Amino acid sequence: MNELTDLTEPTPPAHPADPVDWPQDRTCPYHPPTGYDPLRDGNPLARIRLYDGRTAWAVTGHGTARALLSDPRLSSDRRREDFPMPNARFAVARERRQVALLGLDDPEHQTQRRMLIPDFTLKRATGMRPAIQRIVDELLDRMIAEGPPADLVSSFALPVPSMVICDLLGVPYADHEFFEAQSRRLLRGPAPADSLDAREKLEAYLGDLADRKSRDAVPGDGVLDDLVHQRLRDGALDRAEVVALALILLVAGHETTANMISLGTFTLLQQPERLAELRADPALVPAAVEELMRMLSIADGLLRVALEDIQVDGTTIRKGDGVLFATSVINRDESVYDAPDTLDWHRPARHHVAFGFGIHQCLGQNLARTELEIALRTLWERLPDLRLAAPPEEIPFKPGDTIQGMLELPVTW
Ligand code: HEM
Repeated sequence: MNELTDLTEPTPPAHPADPVDWPQDRTCPYHPPTGYDPLRDGNPLARIRLYDGRTAWAVTGHGTARALLSDPRLSSDRRREDFPMPNARFAVARERRQVALLGLDDPEHQTQRRMLIPDFTLKRATGMRPAIQRIVDELLDRMIAEGPPADLVSSFALPVPSMVICDLLGVPYADHEFFEAQSRRLLRGPAPADSLDAREKLEAYLGDLADRKSRDAVPGDGVLDDLVHQRLRDGALDRAEVVALALILLVAGHETTANMISLGTFTLLQQPERLAELRADPALVPAAVEELMRMLSIADGLLRVALEDIQVDGTTIRKGDGVLFATSVINRDESVYDAPDTLDWHRPARHHVAFGFGIHQCLGQNLARTELEIALRTLWERLPDLRLAAPPEEIPFKPGDTIQGMLELPVTW
């Protein structure tokens, strides 16, 4: 034993009642941070401490999460003073923000959601399959012609959902560098002021686009064209609401799915036996997508605030308390999933909460599933020898306070 060790005080064990800091960075990009281990003690609720020192509840039990995500006593209204914030970037935008969908409670939320549902049905997503397949094929053609090696994030994982959401919304893909960069700053700009500036730039861009569309004699067939030519014209929405809806669809539509493609690919490359099984039987891909959604839980930490006291298993969540749904922990609840840390697509994983649950459950989930199935299946068909071009521990991934995913994914074949 050396002198230094002699002098070191033993670290006191964390008291189970000590709030766990949230968010924390993952140690491995496809597992929850080891710092969340105390949240996996079998209790459905735990205390956490947010970045600003405020304590809140973390919901960690699967059944409790589904009950509370359907409970109208929890509000999603991000304009409220008492709404918990995950980081300084989101907090600074609170007062300036025009909220839409996810930031609203019913009945306003329901009014907006109903306008969009026809564009996000399973039938609509199925109808987009040929277009998605074409986008995937063309991007892989180009990547193969230029490589190897390649950065899978910039040459495949990001452009696939970006092109698809542009098609669906009626946003010109020619502007993708601008809106991808601003979305990146919005979600993880280095400072809160960057995030606010990015939001304003995106709002200005989408506002101009909406104005241009409203002058079109023959409307285009994008969701934004419909919002402008129908909802704005008949007074159901004002311009600021159209812009806020377009913003959430554009950002949610490409950032999330891009991260699932990059992190899903990284995870599969780390699990060669699972990957071999998938490549031998592509019919397993839909189940693999579902299991990857569960295991990766890339949108970790869904936020709400209590509008009234709520009793949960003998604990009282008080009016005004912040509530955070820890999806990475909920989706590994041992009472629901056997060996939850193992990737296994033979289990029924579909009732995970990686797309949320209740009234705000992901509007784009049919589209996201379709994109993921086509992207992952085609990637392995076209590049059966795909492998990492750098040691896995050197490949950078995203910090814990944002949607989880890879910053870069150097690959070769
Ligand atoms: C794999 C990719 C995706 C993941 C993991 C994901 C995850 C989620 C989650 C967890 C929620 C619920 C948030 C909460 O309750 O606080 C949500 C809501 C939402 N998502 Fe997704 N999403 C994905 C893809 C998409 C796509 C492609 C779109 C398409 C535009 C989209 C649009 C939305 C919208 C509009 C909401 C808000 C719905 C509402 O409040 O009624 N998402 N998403």
